[in-house]
Amino acid sequence: MTEPMPTGSRGSEQELLQALQESESRFRAIFDSVHEGIFIHDIDTGAILATNQRAREMFAMSDQELKAVGIAALSEGVPPYTQADAAYWMMRAASGEPQSFEWHARDGRGRLFWVELTMRKALLGRQERLLAVVRDISRRKVQEDELRQNLEHQVQMNRRLEEAQNQLLQSEKMASIGQLAAGVAHELNNPISFVHSNMGSLEAYVRTLFEIIEASRLADGSAEVERLKKAKDYDYIRQDIIQLLGESRDGLERVRKIVGDLKNFSRVDNADWQWADLHKGIDSTLNIVWNELKYKCTVSKQYADLPEVYCLPSQLNQVFMNLLVNAAQAIEERGNITIRTGRQGDKEVWVEVADTGKGIAPENLNRVFEPFFTTKAVGQGTGLGLSLSYGIVVKHQGRIAVASEVGKGSTFRLTIPIHPDLENSAASPK
Ligand SMILES: Nc1ncnc2c1ncn2[C@@H]1O[C@H](COP(=O)(O)OP(=O)(O)OP(=O)(O)O)[C@@H](O)[C@H]1O
Ligand SMILES: [Mg+2]
Repeated sequence: MTEPMPTGSRGSEQELLQALQESESRFRAIFDSVHEGIFIHDIDTGAILATNQRAREMFAMSDQELKAVGIAALSEGVPPYTQADAAYWMMRAASGEPQSFEWHARDGRGRLFWVELTMRKALLGRQERLLAVVRDISRRKVQEDELRQNLEHQVQMNRRLEEAQNQLLQSEKMASIGQLAAGVAHELNNPISFVHSNMGSLEAYVRTLFEIIEASRLADGSAEVERLKKAKDYDYIRQDIIQLLGESRDGLERVRKIVGDLKNFSRVDNADWQWADLHKGIDSTLNIVWNELKYKCTVSKQYADLPEVYCLPSQLNQVFMNLLVNAAQAIEERGNITIRTGRQGDKEVWVEVADTGKGIAPENLNRVFEPFFTTKAVGQGTGLGLSLSYGIVVKHQGRIAVASEVGKGSTFRLTIPIHPDLENSAASPK
């Protein structure tokens, strides 16, 4: 639809003016009624040349005020929302690349709020200007914040769930080891007892038999007896049989001790908080894991004079076991493990397991207590040993720390109170 071009008459000049005014007011109406705030900036100085109604509402300022204050007053003022940052965006838009970004804005009353800005170069009339379209996104930001908080909350819940699951896994692992140990100890106890007592009788019988044989030899001294004694090496047998019996009894004694250690280690029969001698626990545990240590390590003990500690002995033994096995596993060829104990003030005791193994890389040092953190081959380590130990030490209201140097070795030290205050803590005496 094209209108005929107005001619040069007076009347048509007026029509032209009217049409222009109409067009101008139409433009104004649109300019002011859009939902977005619009700013028109000088492309060189960035100065505000015009604003629409919505922009004035958003920033709670009049057109004149907005033109007077400049960008600095409309921004948070903290990087990346300063005048200099605004200048950067304007420069990019002025170079012909439309920019879209979020801005932390400030209104005339000092209220901070979030906007989304689109800035582009535009030819208005015959002038190049910067056109900034501003949308208030405060509500979206609030929703985003809520969403983020929700997510964080969920992540935390997941972490807690994972921890709880680990704890469960750990206590299951412990319970099954304990039960196994107790079961084996129980099964071994009976046969050992009767073999042990039989050995005693056997020794007595053998001695009696020898006496009888000696007596009968003296009584008739027949040549046949002498011949047999020589042929069967009687003198040697007589000597050796006693030695054999002695050795067997020693062996049994050792088995009996291991069984005792197993029982002491597991303490399934008595899994409650109680006063216990830590050195006993360490020694029992040492015997249990001895097989893992004996080929590679020498173990030295530097025990201090320790009082009994109110604790869950079988769980602390579990910690000692983890530390000792880790120490042995860190030693590749040959090395030493040193177990030290001591008192700290009059309320705490500590136990240290130091090895001369390969050490822990600095970046792993604060990860070793994480559940499932392991540097060992698949199937060799589950990465639960230390996290389990950590949990047990915390339950005892104590702490566990590690110091290590790659190539030199590591030292783990746990410190626990002699008598934890179980009344006023989350660690319930279970
Ligand atoms: N004494 C030590 N020397 C060197 N590294 C150690 C020592 N103790 C622990 N670590 C490091 O810490 C990691 C975690 O130890 P943790 O006992 O928790 O798990 P693991 O020994 O790998 O597996 P698991 O004990 O479940 O069999 C180990 O894989 C190892 O890298
Ligand atoms: Mg381990």
